Amino acid sequence: MIRVAILASGTGSNARAIYADALQGGPYKLALLMSNRSVAPVLNWAESVGIPAFCWTNLEMANGSLLLRFLKDNQIDLVVLAGYLRLLPKEVVEAYSGRILNIHPSLLPLHGGKGMYGKHVHEAVIASGDAQTGITIHLVNEEFDRGPILEQVSIPVEASDDAVSLAEKIHALEHKSYPLAVRRLAETLLQQKHHG
Ligand code: GRF
Repeated sequence: MIRVAILASGTGSNARAIYADALQGGPYKLALLMSNRSVAPVLNWAESVGIPAFCWTNLEMANGSLLLRFLKDNQIDLVVLAGYLRLLPKEVVEAYSGRILNIHPSLLPLHGGKGMYGKHVHEAVIASGDAQTGITIHLVNEEFDRGPILEQVSIPVEASDDAVSLAEKIHALEHKSYPLAVRRLAETLLQQKHHG
């Protein structure tokens, strides 16, 4: 089993979708959930389903050696960002190179970067008159939304769409795609473990 840590600061709908996939036979276990927002609904949810959940301050999360030690002490193989809005410290990015996933609610490189999250992204898509939008699943490096892209799924922007309707469609797409991407990477890591 691959041990996954989810980092999330919001509602955690993607965390729930990934958890459901793990229960349905994904080769991974949600071993840890970390948040930097004490009021994040995702924390209560994690506790309610028995996932060890931790809230750290931004200062603690930015402390590379502290965070890395914590992940290692918990034998984490794979880190999954699901609505976590801050950069990860260099030590963690380096130690977990190729083993940190993020999902972004647009077709990167469009509408990414600092401050581009949630409704800001969908408002930017509408304002730009884009014919398509979608999701991007990528590996994480030290820059916002700039790591190697693993997968993109696009949908048309209809004339009747606004930021709210796009948010709904994109969330539905994320809940389908993100667990599969986690599963795929977990399978690859599991094979590497067996052969290495
Ligand atoms: C998702 O839309 C994801 O693309 C972005 O943050 C949002 C998190 O939503 N990175 P949720 O907390 O999983 O509902």
